[in-house]
Amino acid sequence: MTAVATPSGAARLGSPAEVVEGLAAVGYLADEHIGTVVYLAERLGKPILVEGPAGTGKTELAKSVAALLSARLVRLQCYEGLDEAKALYEWNYRKQLLRIQVERAEESGGEGARGWRELEQDIFSEEFLLERPLLEAIRATDPVVLLIDEVDRIELETEALLLEVLSDYQVSIPELGTVRARQIPMVVLTSNDTRELSEALKRRCLYLYLGYPSVERERAIVLAKVPGIEHRLADEVVRVVRSLREMELEKHPSVSETLDWARSLVLLGIERVDTSVTESTLHLLLKYRADIEKVSAELATRAPGTSGAGTSSPR
Ligand SMILES: Nc1ncnc2c1ncn2[C@@H]1O[C@H](COP(=O)(O)OP(=O)(O)OP(=O)(O)O)[C@@H](O)[C@H]1O
Ligand SMILES: [Mg+2]
Repeated sequence: MTAVATPSGAARLGSPAEVVEGLAAVGYLADEHIGTVVYLAERLGKPILVEGPAGTGKTELAKSVAALLSARLVRLQCYEGLDEAKALYEWNYRKQLLRIQVERAEESGGEGARGWRELEQDIFSEEFLLERPLLEAIRATDPVVLLIDEVDRIELETEALLLEVLSDYQVSIPELGTVRARQIPMVVLTSNDTRELSEALKRRCLYLYLGYPSVERERAIVLAKVPGIEHRLADEVVRVVRSLREMELEKHPSVSETLDWARSLVLLGIERVDTSVTESTLHLLLKYRADIEKVSAELATRAPGTSGAGTSSPR
């Protein structure tokens, strides 16, 4: 393990409570558990692996931590087939070819020929290097938060590449040598849990499971993110969403959908949520036809004017 300095220039986090407060100030409503994991990750210099269903604020957490630390967000969006060239670095082949062509033209124009070695040194230098997010984060001199988003989408072999970077905070480039981090960047990995990540990767990270927020926290999120919404409407919205999450559905509404629904209700000038409002706007909350039909059928059994859906009444 290479010794590297702790982050310099980034704002330090004083306590979990301070993290919760700081995140709220940048628009992210966290609970004590989130605050503790973020605090410890920053102080211990360890990556955070955030896992949970879609739309529960995993990516947003990384962005908000960057804002909290006044750090630049460097994002590696993962996808199937992501390779070293897109994650770490690659050589700018076009530019290298151009340089070789210019070199040849100069030679035939009578200028002194350079040996291959010299040319090789030239075209495998910094000028021809295309930095990708992992290398960018490692080499940064300013405070950065590295977001490795949706890491469960990459293959196991590519995960090994991440491991190397996250355990030693260094990257070896054969033509240039080893690049060591000047500071340990704050790293946030997110996963939708579509596949099991390797033990080795998990071991290096602090684990944070982000499920659906409590009614209180979701109401606070709605109030913070939907301008002009009344407290009462925000409360009704989150309670209906909560009751939908208690039903057996293909896909439960996430925080994203709660926010979309709340924003739409405000735009439509709706002040109270009742069964007919819920019924006519269900497509904003549910994205499967079977789910919409199931909830509509459930709502039809309710007296008009009742708010909510689902089989049990929410807290
Ligand atoms: N705690 C929170 N505070 C403020 N906003 C939140 C919070 N949680 C979620 N949101 C909002 O919910 C939306 C979805 O969040 P985000 O994109 O981070 O979800 P995700 O977990 O990364 O989803 P996916 O797995 O689909 O990428 C965003 O608009 C975000 O602002
Ligand atoms: Mg995301």
